[in-house]
Amino acid sequence: MVPDPKQTPDVVLVTGAAGGIGQALVLGFEAAGWRVVSVDRLPMARTDHVQADIGDLVDPESAEHQELVDRLRAATGGRCKAVVANAAHQVVKPAAALDASDWRTTLDVNLLSPFWLAMAFADELERNRGSVLAISSIHEKLTKPGFVAYATSKAALSGLVRAMAVELGARLRVNAICPAAIATPMLKAGFDGQPEALAALEAFHPVGRLGDPAEVARVAVFVCSDAAGFMNGSCLALDGGIGARLHDPV
Ligand SMILES: NC(=O)c1ccc[n+]([C@@H]2O[C@H](COP(=O)([O-])OP(=O)(O)OC[C@H]3O[C@@H](n4cnc5c(N)ncnc54)[C@H](O)[C@@H]3O)[C@@H](O)[C@H]2O)c1
Repeated sequence: MVPDPKQTPDVVLVTGAAGGIGQALVLGFEAAGWRVVSVDRLPMARTDHVQADIGDLVDPESAEHQELVDRLRAATGGRCKAVVANAAHQVVKPAAALDASDWRTTLDVNLLSPFWLAMAFADELERNRGSVLAISSIHEKLTKPGFVAYATSKAALSGLVRAMAVELGARLRVNAICPAAIATPMLKAGFDGQPEALAALEAFHPVGRLGDPAEVARVAVFVCSDAAGFMNGSCLALDGGIGARLHDPV
């Protein structure tokens, strides 16, 4: 019997789903008819949620890795058509203050977990003509003081996307979205009591505002759809034009 597509929708696995952009990704994919398996170390009030630390994926020989992969595979039920690696760890401190744990957690969560997650789902994604989408950042190329570990991890994540796209392109697509400042509740909270600073940040983006989490979700849904079937190895800027801005004082 031919499965009814409405009964067996495509599944997207979204990490970091409890965060500002993650929640928008969940809503955006659901609105587009996907079944979403959310993953976060925080609980979420939804049935298809796997509460877990994706750092457990980084040693493929470990029991933790296998246990988490088994839980994720059970949740997607063979229908996974997209893995969205969205979770991230952001350390903001001077380079001289970074310690070994800052580096380890940053690289584990932002770089290595996406790799092992993609590899764990490569066969399932290939069967479903699917793709991996990494939520990278404008920090893959442009950064500022205090962001050495985070920016390095995002540059490496974009490199990983291109390298995997070249090697795995015949099996599955691999892409990234690189947002500039997105107006998540947490970002806005960071500007509490400083409306001038928030206005300056908005004005510095050529579009005159910050991005909306729903805008990230809309692009993500498109990149993971069959309509984007020739898109592979792309690191898409989603930055209101700030990445094109020359910083000369004129
Ligand atoms: N908000 C922005 O302005 C912005 C800009 C550019 C890129 N990004 C990227 O977008 C993505 C989402 O960012 P956000 O602003 O929603 O961040 P956020 O901090 O609101 O959400 C991140 C989520 O990831 C989860 N998480 C972190 N480590 C985890 C782990 N080890 N295991 C499981 N879950 C874990 C957190 O619990 C949280 O729910 C990140 O990759 C970030 O680098 C954000």
